[in-house]
Formats: sequence, structure tokens, C-alpha cells
Amino acid sequence: MKRIGVLISGRGSNLGALIADQANAPYRIVSVISNIEGAGGLARAAEAGIATKVIPHKGKTREAFDAELDAALRAADVEIVCLAGFMRILSDGFTRAWEGRLINIHPSLLPAYKGTHVHERVIEARESQSGASVHFVVPELDAGPVIAQARVPVHADDTPDALAARVLDVEHKLYPAALRLLADGKVKLEKGLAVFG
Ligand code: GRF
Repeated sequence: MKRIGVLISGRGSNLGALIADQANAPYRIVSVISNIEGAGGLARAAEAGIATKVIPHKGKTREAFDAELDAALRAADVEIVCLAGFMRILSDGFTRAWEGRLINIHPSLLPAYKGTHVHERVIEARESQSGASVHFVVPELDAGPVIAQARVPVHADDTPDALAARVLDVEHKLYPAALRLLADGKVKLEKGLAVFG
């Protein structure tokens, strides 16, 4: 049973999907940390009886903020960290310290559409499909090896909100499935690759 820490900045719907999945999964969420006070996900975690913590980032260097995060995760004996709508770039030191045990969900078919405003850009480019990716986190933004992906169609008359909702729906299935693989030791980060088996 792996001990999971989830980092959030917002509503936490992916956190909600992980909480719903954990009852019969090889993981338990033991800590939810937000850099934003009042983030919706904090209430979801508290309702589920999970310990929450707010670590504000304002007025701190990236390294100082990440050191606080790292200390809080270690204090909770966290083994795997899931980023779920966590809107801070992590320092190289933090990502290296958690290498292979730090994953993120991104609302595109990586390596396409890294960064922000993904759905606007996908529609602008008239893509016929988009999706979501769960990947190991490495220092370069949204560039780590992909563990799992889910695809959705993009409709000709899509708005960014409509596409975001369609992608979010598959995110909620994808993230628990990918975390189960990692928690079970069925996928590992080896020499910059996601290796299965
Ligand atoms: C998701 O679309 C996720 O892919 C992205 O941020 C959003 C977070 O949504 N990284 P939520 O807070 O999990 O509802």
C-alpha cells in the first residue's frame, strides 16, 4: 500500500477521482497540499478525512517554497507525489529528489501542447483529436516520459470549455489507472523512459 501526497491549486476534480478510486486500490492518499488557500480540493480532501495543508508560495523563492513542500511530504511519509492541477513550476532540485515518484496529469496528448491554454490552442489549430496524459515529472515542463494517455475527439464547433469538459472526463479515469500502475510497481522511470513490467 503506497502512501500518496497530492498537490493541488484549484477545484481538485482529479483529486476527487483519486479519492473515489482509493478504496480498493494499492494506494492511500495521506496528504493533500495546496499553495492556494481555499482551493476547492481542500474541502474534498477534508470531507474524505484526509489531512490537508496550505503552503502559500507568495513572497518565497521557488527553492524555499519547494523545501517547505518537500518537508511536509516527508513528514507525512509520502512515497508518491501526484500533481493534480498544481499551478506551480517545481525546482530542478525538487523534481530530482522525487524522480520516479512524482507524476502529473496534463490535458493534451503530450508531447503536443505542453504548457497552458491547451484547449484554446488545440481548437485554433483545428485538431481532430486531443486527450490527456499522465507522465513522470522531470525538470523540463510537461516533458517527462508518458505513462498513459486517453484520446477524445475534437468537434468542429467545440468551445474551449466544451473540450475541457470532455478531456476532464477521461482524466478522471486515466489518473487513477496510471497511479495504480505506479503504486503496484508495474511501471518505473528508468534512464528517462517509462518502463513497464
Ligand atoms: C486538469 O485539466 C489537469 O489536467 C490540469 O489541470 C486541471 C486540474 O483540474 N493539470 P482539477 O483541479 O483536477 O479539477
